[in-house]
Amino acid sequence: MYVCLCQGVTDGQIRDAIFEGCCSYRDVRETLGVASQCGKCACLAKQVVRETLNEVQSSQAALAYPAASFVAA
Ligand code: FES
Repeated sequence: MYVCLCQGVTDGQIRDAIFEGCCSYRDVRETLGVASQCGKCACLAKQVVRETLNEVQSSQAALAYPAASFVAA
C-alpha cells in the first residue's frame, strides 16, 4: 500500500528500511523522503514505523539471546 504518494513510498519500503537499520521515524524520513513534501502522509508513516519497531522488539524479546545483548569481549 502506498503511504506517501508524493515520494511513491509504500509501507513495505518503510518496513524494509527499518529491517535494514532505521530505528526511528526521523531515520525513515531521511532515508526514504517520506513526508518531505505535502506532509499528509506523516501520521500514517509514523504509524507504520511504530508498528514495525514494535514487531522488531517483540521478535527480539522472543529470542533466547537477543541481538542487542551481545557484547564484544
Ligand atoms: S504524501 Fe507524503 S509528502 Fe505528500
